Amino acid sequence: MIKDLLQGKPFKHPLHPFLVHFPVGLFLFSLVLDVASLIFPAEPTLEPAAFYSMGFGVATALLAAVPGFVDYLDIRKDHPARAKAVHHMLLNLAAVGLYGLNLGLRYSQADGQQVGWLPFVLSCVGVGILSVSGYLGGTIVYADGVGVGRHRRRSPGPKQTIEIKALGAAAPREPVSVAKAGALQDGETLRVKLANVVVAIARQGDEYFAFQEFCPHRYGPLSEGKIEKGTVECPWHRSCFDLATGEVKQGPAKIGLKTYKVTVRDDTLWIDFPSG
Ligand code: FES
Repeated sequence: MIKDLLQGKPFKHPLHPFLVHFPVGLFLFSLVLDVASLIFPAEPTLEPAAFYSMGFGVATALLAAVPGFVDYLDIRKDHPARAKAVHHMLLNLAAVGLYGLNLGLRYSQADGQQVGWLPFVLSCVGVGILSVSGYLGGTIVYADGVGVGRHRRRSPGPKQTIEIKALGAAAPREPVSVAKAGALQDGETLRVKLANVVVAIARQGDEYFAFQEFCPHRYGPLSEGKIEKGTVECPWHRSCFDLATGEVKQGPAKIGLKTYKVTVRDDTLWIDFPSG
């Protein structure tokens, strides 16, 4: 419940990208005021305003960090963007630490006139770090698709990919055991990989379905999509596919999904992977 709230599911919009506008804007505004105080040294209100803008910036950054960390925890453990997210987080923490130090320096050196050279340099460095971190944050969403459409799904996504050891050349013709059926609750999914075939497995009611993981539209991860009314909805652009047949129920995708036969034996899920 709290996790859903921090991820912005009730608002149908992720919270972290919404909240980060405040610290970024306040830190930049603080730097603008610093520059203004250097140009107009006789104006006594500029430097205190820069100090308070920075202070509110640190407070709102700490606020934005909480949903950001929850978003990070939700990235699949083997997702290539997870390492990038760690760098994004460390850069943000470094920037907030620098701004905290900056505030301390300003407080101890306050003369109400002009910004000191060290706090000014620290502000410039802080904005530089935030720019790099913001760029990384943008690529995590726009290039890697992390968190896109997640608010539409109620159940948790798969934590990692289940890697099935490659069997002999003839073996993939036989059903392959992939997981315990009990590991999957209604509406949940698994992500399984055998050699270069990645398959999503979904449970709806007491039925299990297996289909290609990557959406035929732009390769969205279907194991992170919404399972509802016999369909899977791609988290990226909302194409819908029939779980049983793979048929397109709603575009933009024009090509259906490849599906795989799933059987349950002794509480174990077996999938017929393609040969080769
Ligand atoms: S990637 Fe699935 S609908 Fe676009």
